[in-house]
This record gives sequence, C-alpha cells and structure tokens, in this order.
Amino acid sequence: MEKQILLVDDEEDIRDVLGVYLKSHGYEVHSAENGEEALKLFRKYKPPVVLSDIKMPGIDGIELLRKIKHESLDTEFIMITGHGDMDLAIASFQDHAADFITKPINVNILDVALKKVREKIVSRRQLREYTENLERLIKEKSELQDNLSALGLMLGTISHSIKGLLTGLDGGMYLVDSGFKKENLGKIAEGWTVVKEMVGHIRKLIQDILFYSKDREMCLEKVDVCTFAEETAKVIEPKILNRHIEFLKDFDSSAGLFEIDSPAVNSAIINILENAVDACIRDISKPLHRIIFSARQDDNRILFEVSDNGTGMDQETIDRLFTLFFSTKGKEGTGFGLFIADRIIRKHGGSIEVKSKPGHGTQFKIKIPVNSSVS
Ligand SMILES: Nc1ncnc2c1ncn2[C@@H]1O[C@H](COP(=O)(O)OP(=O)(O)OP(=O)(O)O)[C@@H](O)[C@H]1O
Ligand SMILES: [Mg+2]
Repeated sequence: MEKQILLVDDEEDIRDVLGVYLKSHGYEVHSAENGEEALKLFRKYKPPVVLSDIKMPGIDGIELLRKIKHESLDTEFIMITGHGDMDLAIASFQDHAADFITKPINVNILDVALKKVREKIVSRRQLREYTENLERLIKEKSELQDNLSALGLMLGTISHSIKGLLTGLDGGMYLVDSGFKKENLGKIAEGWTVVKEMVGHIRKLIQDILFYSKDREMCLEKVDVCTFAEETAKVIEPKILNRHIEFLKDFDSSAGLFEIDSPAVNSAIINILENAVDACIRDISKPLHRIIFSARQDDNRILFEVSDNGTGMDQETIDRLFTLFFSTKGKEGTGFGLFIADRIIRKHGGSIEVKSKPGHGTQFKIKIPVNSSVS
C-alpha cells in the first residue's frame, strides 16, 4: 500500500519512462493520462503519493492537487512543471504540494523529492502513533487516579462506618454484661437486640462492598416473579415489626418468569425497601406509615414498585441519589445502597425511576426486561 504511486501525465512517453523507472525502484505505479482518469484511480487505490504534470487538458495539475487534497489531506503531491512555470509551481505550494520538479526530469532530483515525501509520510505516521499512545497513557493515568481517589474515599468511609457500628456493638455488649452482673434478663435482651442489629448492619455493609469491589460475573437464571418478590419481602419483614409500619404486598400472579442474577437483584431491591423503612422511621410527622411493594409484568418488562409515605426527598437529594457515598443518614448510612442497586439493575438492561415529595413520601419504579440483555 505504502509504495503505491499515482503517475499523471498527458504525454505517453513520459508516463512510460517514469513508470519503468518507478517500478524498478519498487513502486506499484498507477498511470493516468488526464486529471479525470487520475481522480478515478486515486479514489480506487488511495495511493499515498501522486506525481503529476501541471499542464494538462481538462483538469490540470493544480485542480487535481486541490481535489485530491480536499479528499485526503495526507496524500503527498509532487508537481512536474515546465521550465518557465515558476508562478504555477509557487501556486501549487500554496495548495500544499510537497515538492515540484521541472521538466526535463532529472532522476536524481526526482529521487530526492520521493525520499522527502516518504520521510514525511513516515514521520507523520510516527507522530500519529505517538499521539495515540500519549492519549492512551493520559487516559490510563487519569483512570488510575480516579480509582485511587475512589479507593481512598471508600476506605475512609468504610473505616468511619465500621467505627460507628463497633461503638454501637460496644454499647450492646455493655448492656448484655451489666444484665449478667445484675441478673437482669430484660437488660440482656435489650443489649442482645442491639448486638444483632449492629451485626446485621455490618453484614449489609460487607455485602455491599463485595458487590462494589468485585465486578462479579452475572449468573442468570429463570425465576418466578412472585416467588422472588415473596422471598425479597421476607428479608425486610422482620425489620418492619413493631415499627408502626403497614407493609402491603401486591404481586400479580400472572407476572410469569424473568431471567436475572437472583442474589444481585434481590440485594438491589432490598436496598430500596430498606430505604423505604428508614424513611418511615425517620418521619416523625405521621403516626402511621405504609410501604407498598408490588410486582407485575408490563410489556415484556417486570415492574417492581416500592412506595412509602416517609420523609420524602428534596430535589437536591433526588439528584444525588445514585452517587457513591451519598447519604443523609450520618453514621447510619454508607451511601452504597442505591449506587449498587442502580448498577445491578442497569447491568440487567433495566432502569430505576424515582418520584418523591418532601413530607409526603417516595415511589421507586424498578423495570427489568423479562429477558435480560446483560451488559
Ligand atoms: N425512600 C426514600 N425516602 C427518602 N429518602 C431516601 C429514600 N431512598 C433513598 N433516600 C435518600 O437517598 C440517600 C442514599 O441512599 P442509599 O441507599 O444509597 O444510602 P443510605 O441508605 O444512606 O446508606 P446505605 O444504604 O449504604 O446503608 C439516603 O441517605 C436518603 O437520603
Ligand atoms: Mg440505603
């Protein structure tokens, strides 16, 4: 490809002589006797070098140069001019010809011109490779930097969360200890509840970290929507007990099957349900709260809805909802939950939509295709 040359001259003798000379120097030569034919050959073979006479009937050398440069700026053009054509030679430089040689052609001068354009082509290719390499390196470096700062931020947040949970655990253990000392079963039970709660928090945190840190392979299986929803609800039900929260389940028995990575989607929806529970517990403006969890099929997609009449969210919270580490819960939240949930649902080709009003409540809609296009 690289040693191709397009030779254009209306004089047959010149085409023959130059053609033989160039072939003997390893070039694959395409010859044209006028500008029109030259353009056709150029479009067909895309040679990197064009050697053309300047004066030709029809499309002359300058016009050919302009047309070729318009189509391919990197093509190198050597103009062949007559002795008195200095003005035309200069004009061709203005149109970005690489060089010009005069008739009668001196092959030594032609060799120098060809060598020059080849060097230009090689250095341009090298420059392009260097630039691409450099761009790749810069991209890798900034990705590495992003990963490092995310890692630093993550370690800081995790340590902070675990420290808070350990303090809670200490408190529970203290209650259990003093219950034993005073032989007070009530205290022991109270302490034990705190310990179990804290262990539950730590378990969730670790599960979330595992989902985040290992971009684990999706493991798809066909699952019955209602069975799946029932199992998911079972995880959240104990957390609702004695909280003055009504939990309504509405699973359409004709929802059928869908193909998902069951533990992953389970953890995503549990995160959303847990947030709903938190929002109800945190909302002191209403005496009774209600969470509705529904599942049905809609146009080849499974639609889960989680609605609560808890605190609701302002626009700023809605905007930052899925951001890693975003939480309004102080040391009780890590801000992993929705980040992970969003990732999992998107991996299934699905989406999460949120509607919320401060003081009124929140509705999450999770849509997952029946046949996941896992990406
Ligand atoms: N149903 C909801 N009602 C009100 N606010 C919500 C609701 N769901 C999410 N949020 C808001 O979104 C924030 C981010 O939620 P996310 O689940 O990512 O983190 P978190 O619940 O704070 O912590 P984590 O889930 O990691 O323990 C929450 O802190 C809360 O402010
Ligand atoms: Mg959460």
